[in-house]
Amino acid sequence: MPNPSKKPDIARTVPALRRKRDQWKRDTVALVPTMGALHSGHLALVTLAKKKAKRVVVSIFVNPTQFAPHEDFGSYPRTWDADLKALSAMKVDLIWAPTTEAMYPEGFSTKIAPGGPALAGLEDKFRPHHFGGVATVVSKLFLQVAPDFAIFGEKDFQQLKVVTTMARDLDIPVKVIGLPTIREKDGLALSSRNAYLSAEERQIAPTLNRALKDCAKHIKDGRPLVDALAVGRAQIERVGFMLDYLEARNANTLAPVQTLKDGPLRLLVAAKLGKTRLIDNIGV
Ligand code: PAJ
Repeated sequence: MPNPSKKPDIARTVPALRRKRDQWKRDTVALVPTMGALHSGHLALVTLAKKKAKRVVVSIFVNPTQFAPHEDFGSYPRTWDADLKALSAMKVDLIWAPTTEAMYPEGFSTKIAPGGPALAGLEDKFRPHHFGGVATVVSKLFLQVAPDFAIFGEKDFQQLKVVTTMARDLDIPVKVIGLPTIREKDGLALSSRNAYLSAEERQIAPTLNRALKDCAKHIKDGRPLVDALAVGRAQIERVGFMLDYLEARNANTLAPVQTLKDGPLRLLVAAKLGKTRLIDNIGV
């Protein structure tokens, strides 16, 4: 039976989640893992989840282990009431919102150490503990919810590769599906962190996507990769970003590439605008 009430069920402990999950018997289940502060990008993942499976679980957990001490765990936007409203309107079956104690009980001492795409030298270079935290929490979410499908955004392209590889390597029986990035009209990728941008920064922010698109065009037009990337880097820095990286990689392996022939190519960028760190990526 679909959940007839307006509000989705909410589970906060593993036994409560399991009780709910068991009621669904053999119904297919799709999981959308999130840290809350939901925007239309997250909700597009939910829409895809609903197409894929009979039951949809959205997890909301701001995972402390994927933030470094100097990062924004404390100030990460938490908008529970609005999230609940949005997920009620979308009629999801269950919100899995574990307490920190439920996710990391006293004595918790096991970690997943992802390799391969997690060590590509992109996000991992600037956030060395990030993917260990992501892989650990996502493996727990997969084992807790036991979904048939899990939906992730291409917005976090390296993360998508990391969780896909992890599920395969650990024989977790879940199909990981990626959804293309949902953007504002001006190209800015939707992100919970866009809320940090000042009005002036918000005007500048779409340059990140503009530079990716221009760079992709230059590469397709036959310009050497190094030149196209140098132009892109300058374009981003000129408007006031502090660039972490702008790189072209193989879209499947994230391995470095020399020419268009080493593709399919993916361009990936991360840069800070004031205090806000933004990421984006596109295919070539
Ligand atoms: P969060 O940043 O909340 O993102 C949740 C999911 O939404 C991720 O799969 C992310 O790629 C996707 N997403 C974010 N912005 C998007 C956009 N503009 N278009 C499409 N998808 C978008 O990513 C995380 O949380 C965490 O690392 C998590 C996987 C939940 C583990 O803690």
